[in-house]
Amino acid sequence: MNLAAAEKRVAELSTLLHKHNHAYYVLSAPTISDMEFDTMLKELESLEAEFPELASPNSPTKRVGGDITDKFEKIPHDFPMLSLSNSYSLDEIREFDERVKKVIESDFNYVCELKYDGVAISLKYKQGTLVRALTRGDGTVGENVIANARTINSIPIQLTGSGYPADFEIRGEVFMPHQVFDKINKARAANGEELLANPRNTASGTMKMQDSAVVASRQLDCFLYGVYTNEKLFKTHEESLIAASHWGLKTPSWNNKRVAICNDINAIADFISFWDEERKNLPFDIDGIVIKVNQYDAQEELGFTAKSPKWAIAYKFKAEKVCTQLNEVTYQVGRTGAITPVANLIPVQLAGTTVKRASLHNADQIAKLDLHENDFVYVEKGGEIIPKIVGVALNKRKLAAKPIEFIHQCPDCNATLVRVDGEAQHYCLNELGCPTQIKGKLEHFVSRKAMNIDGFGAETVELLYANKLVSQSADIYDLTYDQLISLDRMADKSVNKLLEGIKKSKEIPFEKVLFSLGIRHVGETVAKKLAKQFKSIENLMACSEEHLAEVDEIGVKIAESIVKYFADTRNIENIERLKAKEVKFAIENTGEPTSSIFAGMSFVVSGVFNTFSRDELKVLIESHGGAVKGSISKNTNFVVAGENMGPSKLEKAEKLGVTILNEQEFISKIQTS
Ligand code: IVH
Repeated sequence: MNLAAAEKRVAELSTLLHKHNHAYYVLSAPTISDMEFDTMLKELESLEAEFPELASPNSPTKRVGGDITDKFEKIPHDFPMLSLSNSYSLDEIREFDERVKKVIESDFNYVCELKYDGVAISLKYKQGTLVRALTRGDGTVGENVIANARTINSIPIQLTGSGYPADFEIRGEVFMPHQVFDKINKARAANGEELLANPRNTASGTMKMQDSAVVASRQLDCFLYGVYTNEKLFKTHEESLIAASHWGLKTPSWNNKRVAICNDINAIADFISFWDEERKNLPFDIDGIVIKVNQYDAQEELGFTAKSPKWAIAYKFKAEKVCTQLNEVTYQVGRTGAITPVANLIPVQLAGTTVKRASLHNADQIAKLDLHENDFVYVEKGGEIIPKIVGVALNKRKLAAKPIEFIHQCPDCNATLVRVDGEAQHYCLNELGCPTQIKGKLEHFVSRKAMNIDGFGAETVELLYANKLVSQSADIYDLTYDQLISLDRMADKSVNKLLEGIKKSKEIPFEKVLFSLGIRHVGETVAKKLAKQFKSIENLMACSEEHLAEVDEIGVKIAESIVKYFADTRNIENIERLKAKEVKFAIENTGEPTSSIFAGMSFVVSGVFNTFSRDELKVLIESHGGAVKGSISKNTNFVVAGENMGPSKLEKAEKLGVTILNEQEFISKIQTS
């Protein structure tokens, strides 16, 4: 095919695919089969591959993502992106109605909509093409996440309808449907990864991802509910929503009552109570109802407060609460030995899922609830994955019911539990002898954020531990093909994948290795800090508790835990064995800059520092791409000022307007890089 013919075909396919995308994702009324759609998409993809000059950023092929955004561009909003004032009772809505009526003398009514629980987005279309997608940011300036927005099927890249203005903005909410959220969490659970807390946070985190292909895989959805134009095109909000749907945008539908005109407070109350019940059957989360004055003239008259319009209000639903009976309290042992009591309940439906268990957190929580055997309890689902018990129905308690007593022995290894002063949690201190802790530590070691060993999940840990092949992390590196292939459920392919994953993990940097060790209170961030500060495990081990506690953001609790960890010879032996297998226990000095945050910047270092020697500081600046100079000039970007910096230098820096960083400010800069 020659270029001219290809150009024609690309245009034809693009138009068709945009149309069918609209039919499928906006109208939920496809007119062709998935296979026909995919065939057209594939044809377009191969034409774009053959003639790259024809690949437009607005092509329907962009739905699969692939663009990587280094840093999202910050752009001021054309219209400020405000928020809504919240209310939690009908009385507050009544007061809102009274306030509106006091100002508006003409006839008016309200539009009631669902309050979608996701993340706000502002889309800009020019000549029908999506040209920008801003997050809320601080309400004045947002970040352009257009590459990610293009992957959301219900956001048209090119409008297929008619009558749209040449230039307009439309705002709405990006969210993650339950089905997608559940699928992701199921996969994460199978891989032994940490579960995502809720669809809202996931949607919000996803929109800020830099790799749009990952965003595409997350199948976000979007409803649009606010049209913004420069000229006055409509008299009412209702008209604007209907018009936007004709332009090809996904606005809330009037057919299934997701939006309604309400003439008075009674109609609003009906809409609220209908959705408070019906929201359980929606395939996505809503957290309330939004009530908006419909007439634009009236909206204008009412105006805004600094934060929100006076013509709208949000009614927030109460967290759903149900009553069910407690079967028993069981106790979970975490990988660090922390004991968490769990309430096992008679299964009950709550916010679209069946709840069988609820976290009780710790002994104090049980005491606070004054929980008794077989109590009837109220269970609520907040933003967390695990529901919580918020109260007890005392009137239903049997007279002879005994209070729940926190256990004294570890449910797994029988060791006596210990509660350290000032901590809420009980611990099993038999760290290296308690099976659950051993397995938990191994699972942590191989997990994605730690050594990231492919093909190694909770099931594999269980299998290897049961067969006495692993009990400490170093054992993992002694595993052989013959040992693994002889195990149940281990085929040649999975064994090789596992061995390959283990080998690859030797390239994991020191900071992650340190995190993998599972030292209590040493999470990802602390491990990163320690690795940067001490550079090798030897340096860290040589450091006294007092000195460690003085390191910024480490503190006594972490210092104590680190020193205790290294005092156990079994841990030292394990580390020595890992070292012998070439796992990294020091930061690599490649000569390459660690980052380029200071690229092109010139520094002057002056005074005495607590955490670093002056030479160490210089190395740090250079390793982040900066240059260190002896004296301050107009070309100096930063002066890093320690104690006893000479007054003349300070004066000069101030005179030239050079930014002065104290030690702490400097450290924060590199830590956030
Ligand atoms: S109208 C001036 N309508 O809730 C603000 N917002 O808490 C106009 N939201 O920022 C917003 N569903 O992100 C509006 N039907 C709806 C909404 C909605 C969800 C979000 C939106 C807003 C936040 C306010």
